[in-house]
Amino acid sequence: MKNILVTGGAGFIGSNFVRRSLKLKKDWRIVVLDALTYAGNLENLNGLEDEYKDRYSFNKLDIKDKEGVFKLFERENFDGVINFAAESHVDRSILGPLIFVETNVLGTVNLLEASRKYFKDGEKRFLQISTDEVYGALGEDGSFTEETKVDPSSPYSASKTSADLFVLAYTRTYGLNVVITRCCNNYGPYQFPEKLIPFMIKRALDNEPLPVYGDGRNVRDWIYVDDHNDGTILAFEKGKIGEVYNLGARCEKRNIDLVKIIIEKLKNNLKDRKDFKEPQINFVKDRPGHDFRYSIDPSKAERELGFKAKVSFEEGIEKTIKWYIENEGWWRRIISGEYLEYVKKQYEDAK
Ligand code: NAD
Ligand code: TYD
Repeated sequence: MKNILVTGGAGFIGSNFVRRSLKLKKDWRIVVLDALTYAGNLENLNGLEDEYKDRYSFNKLDIKDKEGVFKLFERENFDGVINFAAESHVDRSILGPLIFVETNVLGTVNLLEASRKYFKDGEKRFLQISTDEVYGALGEDGSFTEETKVDPSSPYSASKTSADLFVLAYTRTYGLNVVITRCCNNYGPYQFPEKLIPFMIKRALDNEPLPVYGDGRNVRDWIYVDDHNDGTILAFEKGKIGEVYNLGARCEKRNIDLVKIIIEKLKNNLKDRKDFKEPQINFVKDRPGHDFRYSIDPSKAERELGFKAKVSFEEGIEKTIKWYIENEGWWRRIISGEYLEYVKKQYEDAK
């Protein structure tokens, strides 16, 4: 049995990862560490304690907590770490960058320090979940490869880039067994309704206008969360020490086109609901430093890890929209005072 620490396991991608890897990797025991910030939700992990009694446990802990993290490493004798924990939202990083430095940089370095102490055995791996946003913005052409120079635009991406540089320094300086993955925009169940897709679904279901930044021509590259997580498992098991792997599904969409797809899908799924009205699109003030386009070239992961995204956009978006319609209680429960304050601040100019 392999004992794996998964940080940020109560968030969107992390909770999907925990479910998926418990199902697929019968010889893994997963220890989740999560501080349960506004984005972390124990409900995302409901049922796992009963279903996987001996292979799953949860610890409420901050990755910055030196004593707590070191104690956990001492007690658990981990075989590896997968670090999903992060402040993850660009717009929040623009409103308040400091916590992004604290969690994404200091927190990651704290985990690296614990790994340096307890992972004497070079077999034990530290996998850093990074993002394509470290590469900055593309124009109309080209894609990010692992050779693309890092050039982050937002406080969020700058903090993720800094973390990556520390991770790479730990392999060069201390010989720590590290791998980094950089994935494009994820979508799927359990994504906090501040990110584009769930936010637009929530607004539409509440008969509110859909705020599209700028002219809506910015491009994002989308992957279904399970495909990202399959790539994560492959990178953890097969990645070469000190290497970076881009993960993506070759699925670029302009924001405005994606929002129109969401509207069409909602209309289709809700045609029997009399209270649902077709939502209006509202072009609002652009995000400062808004990256124009992301495009991931996943060839290296395909070649070296055998990675291949399997879920088509059509299938993934249909599943996702159905999930948010069927799980309205889930997102309504997390729309708290804090969330309302954030939305008010972020969209104060929008109608
Ligand atoms: P999320 O915001 O949904 O979840 C983050 C989780 O980390 C939450 O459960 C939160 O409670 C936890 N966390 C935050 N600060 C913590 C701390 N100090 N100590 C312990 N736990 C803490 O984020 P997500 O979208 O699931 O992203 C997960 C990872 O994947 C992040 O590292 C992000 O940079 C990366 N990533 C995300 C995307 C995407 O499209 N969402 C794409 C590429 C990479
Ligand atoms: P987001 O989900 O925040 O992811 P990221 O900024 O990390 O790519 O946003 C995706 C795209 O959607 C991005 O170009 C910004 C845009 N966007 C809007 O136009 N309106 C919104 O209300 C939000 C949340 C995002």
